[in-house]
Amino acid sequence: MNKTITVSAPGKLMLFGEHAVVYNRPCIVTAVDQRMRATVELVETPEFQLEAADVKVTGYKKALSELGKGDIPKGAQFVEIAVKNILQRHPELGSGSAGLRITTTSEFSSQFGFGSSSASTVCTIKAISELLALNLSQKELFDIAFKTVLDIQGKGSGFDVAAAIYGGTIYFVTGGKVIEPLQIPTLPLLVGYSGVKADTVTLINKVKETSDAYPEIIDGIYTNIEKLVERAKPAIIAQEWKTVGELMNINQGYLDALGVSTKKLATMIYSAKDAGAYGAKLSGAGGGDCIISLATDAQRNAVETAITQAGAEIVSVTTNAEGVRIEK
Ligand code: PMV
Repeated sequence: MNKTITVSAPGKLMLFGEHAVVYNRPCIVTAVDQRMRATVELVETPEFQLEAADVKVTGYKKALSELGKGDIPKGAQFVEIAVKNILQRHPELGSGSAGLRITTTSEFSSQFGFGSSSASTVCTIKAISELLALNLSQKELFDIAFKTVLDIQGKGSGFDVAAAIYGGTIYFVTGGKVIEPLQIPTLPLLVGYSGVKADTVTLINKVKETSDAYPEIIDGIYTNIEKLVERAKPAIIAQEWKTVGELMNINQGYLDALGVSTKKLATMIYSAKDAGAYGAKLSGAGGGDCIISLATDAQRNAVETAITQAGAEIVSVTTNAEGVRIEK
């Protein structure tokens, strides 16, 4: 049995269907080649030890029996609860004298909204599964990782967990009811970071308030977003970028109606479109984080310049990245 293992998983960008996917609708998400890494070592004390310098956690340790109890620093939550959940399913692991030392590092800033929390959750569970020969299937891995996210956030669809595990570009329905890889080479996507960190749960709650006040209207918007996702799926597969861009613009209109766009995001989006992009929208919960826009090679420079002038930082990504994998 190996005593140490390193696993990596990709970040993600939501292409279509955010918010509606929390309420039993589909979305489309792509994995990006910026990766999260976790190295897991077996140690001789029955402790959980964590080094996650990227999120300001160093020298953190706890008895395995105390996992999930007491104050947990924000940067340690997902990895700690992931370990707790896997120990609950496999109590034999926590009964001996061995413990775990976990070190996580990220190739992307946790500010971008690329899904660093879910990617580190997936890495941790996959690494422990491999180290202790649990042979978890991808779906079992999804179920434990999604439970971990729900234990901490209380809300979410699990789309980010699926992207970290399966990679590629995925058509996904709430809770992993459908996880369908789309066969495409890559997407001509341009990404701009707004400089503002968004809090996913706050935005989900905000949309819930609007939905409680105007249930039929918001439900109608979710249903239209679902139709749009169903239309975008074949367009992405056929690489009909003009159609995909137009659908992005419509999706952005609905997100604005849900109240999750901001002046800064809108300025970035209009700049991208004015510079010739096929389409542009916010990606993820909204309130900040990133916009995505679709542009041909010929339009790319102009769109990048326009987004930058609107105050964005260009984040260079390759889409359709490989899912969770063992590094060594
Ligand atoms: O903020 P992000 O990038 O994690 O995206 C959230 C997308 C939501 O649909 C609002 C929530 C979810 O879990 O699907």
